[in-house]
Amino acid sequence: MNEETTKAQVTVLGLGAMGTALAAALLAAGHPVTVWNRSDRPTPQGATRASTVSEAIEASPVVLACLLDHRSVYDTLGPSAASLRGKALINLTSGTPAHARSLAAWAAEREIDYLDGGIMAVPPMIGRPGAFVLYSGSQPVFDTYRPVLDALADSRFLGTDAGMASLQDIALLSAMYGQFMGILHAFALVGSAGVTATEFAPMLRGWLTAMGGFVEGAAEQIDKRDYSIGVVSNLAMQAAGYPHLLEAAIDEGVSPALIAPLRPLFDQRLAGGHGAEAITGVIELLWERK
Ligand SMILES: NC(=O)c1ccc[n+]([C@@H]2O[C@H](COP(=O)([O-])OP(=O)(O)OC[C@H]3O[C@@H](n4cnc5c(N)ncnc54)[C@H](OP(=O)(O)O)[C@@H]3O)[C@@H](O)[C@H]2O)c1
Repeated sequence: MNEETTKAQVTVLGLGAMGTALAAALLAAGHPVTVWNRSDRPTPQGATRASTVSEAIEASPVVLACLLDHRSVYDTLGPSAASLRGKALINLTSGTPAHARSLAAWAAEREIDYLDGGIMAVPPMIGRPGAFVLYSGSQPVFDTYRPVLDALADSRFLGTDAGMASLQDIALLSAMYGQFMGILHAFALVGSAGVTATEFAPMLRGWLTAMGGFVEGAAEQIDKRDYSIGVVSNLAMQAAGYPHLLEAAIDEGVSPALIAPLRPLFDQRLAGGHGAEAITGVIELLWERK
């Protein structure tokens, strides 16, 4: 690895909360940084401000885009695509796997080397331990600009399918929101009887930590598509108890909206004769809806 790639000149398109944090981390790691933003936002100290997208792109061999959404990436890059030819484009804008694959195809047609990224952090975490970014698409871009990427966060390459980073990013966010839903419902339930969230929080945190072990056990059952492996609490027992969660919420004047969707899935598996298995088999119903 030579000095050219360890301290490569980098262009950052987008100076929102995340783009600003990315530019600041690159500057802190010693990279010369050129920035562009659609409207007038503060320039990170030490960065060079470009007045047009083309000027920003021309300044560096590698361009990081961190804009609001997929549409804004096309709006920004479309008119300047010619200046990206032969360069590395790393898109850290959130989107779907289909968005990433369509941008990869758009880039390939224009001889732009495309790497897609999903940032698993909030802006204050960028450049600090704990942040990680998922990447997929061009392996040469990932390998060549690894020092640039590592200045932002822990970098994880997930393969050459440009949609893979987004898919796994969204899977992690989906799990996070599922957890948030349960947490909010639990706080609402105890709050209905005057227990403060602060009072309940330590017990809730301990419970969630203890239940985290579900992940590995479920993974083995799912990969083998065998939901009878190591069953501790079977579906029939859990399906009998789950209505209590809904009844208790209604009795206490709390909406069951966040926890209600699981019940029909339990019932459907039970009706299918899977009562002795683990609840993990619900995944078969999710796949069926594809
Ligand atoms: N913030 C987070 O916690 C976080 C975490 C993970 C991933 N992300 C992702 O990072 C990306 C940026 O997030 P952010 O927090 O920086 O958002 P933000 O603070 O709202 O900034 C949005 C940026 O997009 C630009 N933009 C919006 N529409 C545009 C358009 N049509 N053409 C050109 N530029 C346009 C804005 O420019 P103007 O200044 O001109 O409006 C601004 O630079 C998003 O995809 C987000 O999902 C964010």
